[in-house]
Amino acid sequence: MMEPEIVIKADNVVKSFGDRTILDGISLEIYKGETFVIMGGSGCGKSTFLRHVIGSLKPDSGKIFLLGKDLSKIDENEMDKVRMKIGMCFQSSALFDSMTVGDNVSIGLREHTKLDKSVIDIVVKMKLEMVGLRGFENLMPSALSGGMRKRVGLARAISMDPEIVFYDEPTAGLDPIVAGVIDKLIVDLSKKLNITSVVVTHDMKSVFSIADRVAMFYEGKVLEIGTPEEMKRSKNPMIQQFTSGSPDGPIRFFQQKDDYLERLVA
Ligand SMILES: Nc1ncnc2c1ncn2[C@@H]1O[C@H](COP(=O)(O)OP(=O)(O)OP(=O)(O)O)[C@@H](O)[C@H]1O
Ligand SMILES: [Mg+2]
Repeated sequence: MMEPEIVIKADNVVKSFGDRTILDGISLEIYKGETFVIMGGSGCGKSTFLRHVIGSLKPDSGKIFLLGKDLSKIDENEMDKVRMKIGMCFQSSALFDSMTVGDNVSIGLREHTKLDKSVIDIVVKMKLEMVGLRGFENLMPSALSGGMRKRVGLARAISMDPEIVFYDEPTAGLDPIVAGVIDKLIVDLSKKLNITSVVVTHDMKSVFSIADRVAMFYEGKVLEIGTPEEMKRSKNPMIQQFTSGSPDGPIRFFQQKDDYLERLVA
């Protein structure tokens, strides 16, 4: 069998904030074209890990390789070039409410390419069509439902024809049907455009419907990596508990640390 091509490699990545170790030696490999899901409880370091992979945080130790580049060895200029090849659909990267849908989708094209406006307009139309929002370019985001806004975010994430798209909880806050639509879009876009997708989610239904492989994070470590089927069969009680969503088991949810909540009650 041919060796899969590795597009992301994390090698023993460690990161602490103050005296709290958030990533405690993360190692994993993500293959070209696959949909790789990172799951795990709130606060276990999923988003922090993604921020390392896209180069916006630097590990205290360990290495990240993104599309063949060792991120610890490249300068900002080279990093910008790598960033052109990735798309992001993050929890925080909401739409700009003061811009039309079309302008939201075309931000990257306008800022990072020299394409004519007429060409950009065509690309925007195509990307919106791919997410089922044909003809929506002149609307304002405020006129859209949550699911439609997510789809605009998806269109923006694929606007530059990326090799990899990162999604941080793409279905959070959506009803189950709309969440299913977004899941299907992620898989369809990956297949059609030959994109590697990295998806952070704790929605188990999403995990089992979209993942080629899954990594389960727990307290800054990778517990296990495997196909969804392998996860379902896992003997690890923590994975069993997570995949079944049971409050009883080795993971005690109410004891998980959450700085934000701790500050609120302090
Ligand atoms: N810049 C930072 N400074 C200090 N602490 C941070 C910082 N970023 C993240 N943390 C802490 O690291 C921990 C992990 O955060 P992270 O956002 O990676 O969790 P997560 O797995 O994505 O959780 P969720 O599922 O709730 O999004 C949290 O306790 C958070 O408070
Ligand atoms: Mg997160």
